[in-house]
Amino acid sequence: MAIFEWSNELSVGVPSLDEQHKKLVKLINDLNEAMKNGKAKEVLGKILKELLDYTKYHFSTEEKYMAQVNYVASETHKLEHQQLIKKALALENDFKNGKATITIDVINFLKEWVSKHIMGTDKKYSSAFIEKGIK
Ligand SMILES: [Fe+2]
Ligand SMILES: [Fe+2]
Repeated sequence: MAIFEWSNELSVGVPSLDEQHKKLVKLINDLNEAMKNGKAKEVLGKILKELLDYTKYHFSTEEKYMAQVNYVASETHKLEHQQLIKKALALENDFKNGKATITIDVINFLKEWVSKHIMGTDKKYSSAFIEKGIK
């Protein structure tokens, strides 16, 4: 069983963003599987980079939509994004330098962060985005 299961509770009601969130969930599951199966550092590093790149892409999509609809809470939302990117970059750096490994704590941190952020922060934009026709 996957460590991170998608459920309707995570839906923000915007299909393109739900798809992006599903991809983030998948990448966290991939990272977990690779860790559990004792995959080589290069394999873990590759998934970690993919996760980081995709996260940046996803955040920029949301931020573009927030700007498009003049979303009121965009600054606090963007700040949360920046804080995660900062942490993820530090993790990637430590991983590359051999100062950190991918552990279940890392996976759980990512999982918790993503689900809390979607349910607590992303969902707040739902009505504003849907009203403006963002799909
Ligand atoms: Fe999101
Ligand atoms: Fe977000």
